Amino acid sequence: MSSLVIDLVAGARPNFMKVAPILRALRSRGTALVPRLVHTGQHYDAAMSDVFFQQLEIPEPDVRLGVGSGTHGAQTARIIESYESHLLQADPRPAGVVVVGDVNSTMACTIAAAKLCIPVAHVEAGLRSFDRTMPEEINRIVTDALSDILLVSEPSGEKNLLREGIDTTKILMVGNVMIDTLVHQLPAIAGCDVQQRYGCQDRYAYVTLHRPSNVDDPARLEHLVEILERLAQRLTVVFPVHPRTRGRLDDGGLLARLQQNANIRLLAPLGYRENVALIRSATVVLTDSGGLQEETTFLGVPCLTLRPNTERPVTVDVGTSTLIGDALHQIEPLVVDVLEGRYKKTAPIPLWDGHAAERIADVLLERWT
Ligand code: UD1
Repeated sequence: MSSLVIDLVAGARPNFMKVAPILRALRSRGTALVPRLVHTGQHYDAAMSDVFFQQLEIPEPDVRLGVGSGTHGAQTARIIESYESHLLQADPRPAGVVVVGDVNSTMACTIAAAKLCIPVAHVEAGLRSFDRTMPEEINRIVTDALSDILLVSEPSGEKNLLREGIDTTKILMVGNVMIDTLVHQLPAIAGCDVQQRYGCQDRYAYVTLHRPSNVDDPARLEHLVEILERLAQRLTVVFPVHPRTRGRLDDGGLLARLQQNANIRLLAPLGYRENVALIRSATVVLTDSGGLQEETTFLGVPCLTLRPNTERPVTVDVGTSTLIGDALHQIEPLVVDVLEGRYKKTAPIPLWDGHAAERIADVLLERWT
């Protein structure tokens, strides 16, 4: 059988754990579809990119677009321009393009491919927060509207796409590739001694914050810092700081305040294994990340989601996440509930079983060869 090349696109940190199992699954199915890995360079720091390639055993990208940071318009435009130029010169031109998640790279590469009539498969399709102030929501809507295969991770995804009038034959429920990576990495994660490395002997809250809605508003950021200081009177707070957040904390004079608190550990952005190891052993997680809502649900760790809405409602309806929104005063009582064993428990989510990428590879082989 002759081989067809397809592009698999990754750009920013949350993409890397999604492409790793897809690459593995495609390679395990022989050479009918040969994946070519494209890194747009949306994230470029070693701690935001290289470490994920090493720990998740992702091979060196075949193509690097090197676009870097910028405003949404500038970054998206640069990715469209450079990915289109790659597609026009690529030999062979890919028979299809696989994009994952909802970052600017996801939408930009979808636009470039769709304009050249190259079919696109979107992994993690159909998620909607119904909040267009969130840049990722725009990316999700555009990507899904232009994609030919919509690979869905949770029941809400299917419902949302049908409501938007997407043809049912394009929609396939395959499960969650983030969980594939988690399941695959659990043995390695078990060997990561967070107690020894970060001194988290007893109960601790694990905190991640990077969304503009939390960190770009100085008053909101200061309020969140005050809450972390109050929580630090009850338990250790472990907080790896995203580059955007570090900048905003520094601008507001809040970084030094956190650094001076003996019960708050500020860390540089962590690798995948260290991050999941810290989530797994945490008493409670406070986050605005999409991926952490899913990982905490799978691991059964209570998660207070510092957002007014979520595109991943199964993590609230069935999983361990509670949406906090503007009700920041709820955080402390909920942490007390966790400490006293009153917090809700999770149930297993269908198809979050470690085999989503295999189902995706089967769909791509069936549709594109
Ligand atoms: C992006 C994604 C978001 C995802 C997040 C995970 C979009 C719209 N947002 O947000 O969905 O949850 O990644 O991190 O695509 N920077 C560095 N080093 C890097 C990359 C960025 O220092 O390697 C700094 C730059 O100052 C940059 C800022 O972080 O301006 C923001 O980076 P950007 O890629 O624009 O968005 P994120 O906030 O990381």
